[in-house]
Amino acid sequence: MNTEQLTKDFKTRFKGDYAVFSAPGRINIIGEHTDYNNGFVLPGAIDKTIELVIRINHNSNIINVVANDLNEEESITIDTTQTNYHWTKYILGVVGELKKLGCNIPGFDSVFGGNVPLGSGMSSSAALESVFGFALNELLGLNLNRFQLAKVGQMAEHHYVGVRCGIMDQFASLFGEEDKLVKLDCRSLEYEMIPFHPDKYSIVLLDTKVSHSLASSEYNKRRASCEKGVSIIAAKYNQVKSLRDVSIDMLEEFIDEMSIETYKRCLYVIGEIDRLQKACEALNINDFSTVGRLMYETHDGLQLLYEVSCKELDVLVQFAKGYNGAIGSRMMGGGFGGCTISLVEAVKKQYFIKQSSLKFKSEFGYLPVVHEVKIADGAKRIL
Ligand code: GLA
Repeated sequence: MNTEQLTKDFKTRFKGDYAVFSAPGRINIIGEHTDYNNGFVLPGAIDKTIELVIRINHNSNIINVVANDLNEEESITIDTTQTNYHWTKYILGVVGELKKLGCNIPGFDSVFGGNVPLGSGMSSSAALESVFGFALNELLGLNLNRFQLAKVGQMAEHHYVGVRCGIMDQFASLFGEEDKLVKLDCRSLEYEMIPFHPDKYSIVLLDTKVSHSLASSEYNKRRASCEKGVSIIAAKYNQVKSLRDVSIDMLEEFIDEMSIETYKRCLYVIGEIDRLQKACEALNINDFSTVGRLMYETHDGLQLLYEVSCKELDVLVQFAKGYNGAIGSRMMGGGFGGCTISLVEAVKKQYFIKQSSLKFKSEFGYLPVVHEVKIADGAKRIL
C-alpha cells in the first residue's frame, strides 16, 4: 500500500482537504524487557511504516477510520468504548489519552495502511498509535512534544488494549533517525543517538510467522514478576525502586525469599541491563563481534530465564550459532513468536538466509519470511 493508493481511497470516501503522515515500526539491537524495569534499550526506527490520510471533520464527533490493508472500517462516536475491531482500540486509546491531557479532539475521517509486518515483533501497534497521535497533534495544533506523544501511545496500550508495555516502541517510532540507534535510559528518559554503520555486517530479520497470541497476558505476567522481585528486595533496601537498582549479588541475598520463577525473571533483566551497556561500549569502537556475542547471550536469557521464546525462534538462533559468519542472533521484541534478528557478515548474508530457511523448513514444514529493513526516520508529515 503506498501513499498514492491511500489518498486515492481516501478521496473516493471522504470530501475535502487532507494531510498525510507516517510513523515507523522498529527493530531493537539489544535490551529486551528492560524498558519497564527502568533499564536501557537500543532500538532504531525502520523503513517500514504505517501511513495515514486524515482530515478533521469539524461538524461532528464521529471518527471514521478505514484500515485499508484489512478491508475493515469503523464509524464510531468519539466517546465510545465499543468497537468491532481490535485495531480500533489503539486509535480510541490515543484519542482518549489526548483528552485526558486536556486536548479537545473533534471527529475525523481517515484511511490508514502500511507495510509494518503484523505480529512480527516490529511494533506495528506503536506505529499505529504514533501516526494518529502525531497527526492529531499537528492538525489540531496541540503543541505536544514527541515525548508526550510517546507517553500517549504507551498509555493507550495500557488502558485501552490491556498490555502494560514499556516506552521503547513508541519512543523509537517518534524519535528515530536514519542510520542511528536510540540509546534510551528508560529511568531518566535521557537519550543518545548512536550512529549505526555495521559496514561489513548486515542485519537479517527472519520471521517465524508464529503469531504472539499468548504475548499480552504473558507479557503482563513477566512485568508482575519483576515488580514482585523489586518489592521483596525493597523491603530491606528501600533505595531500590526498580530492577535497575539491583545487582546480581543483591538478588542472590533474596534467593530463598522469592519463587524460583521470580528469581529467574529478575536474573535475566539485571543481566540484560548490563549487556546493553557493554554492547554500547562495543559499538563505540565498532567491535561488532562483542555486540553479536551479547545478542546470543540475550537469547539464552530470554529462552531459559525469562521464558518468552518458542521453538521456532530457538531453532533459528541455534542454527545461527553454528553458522560461520553469523556473529549474533536472538529473538526480538516481546516474544512468543515473531522474528529473530541476526548480525551476519554481509558477504554471507544470502547464503545464511538460504541455509537458515532450509533448516527451518525441514523442522516446521514452511519457510520463514525474510524482512529487509534500513534504519530510518521517525514519525513525520508527508503531505
Ligand atoms: C514489547 C513492548 C516493549 C518492550 C518489548 C520487550 O515490544 O511493547 O515496551 O517491553 O516488548 O523488550
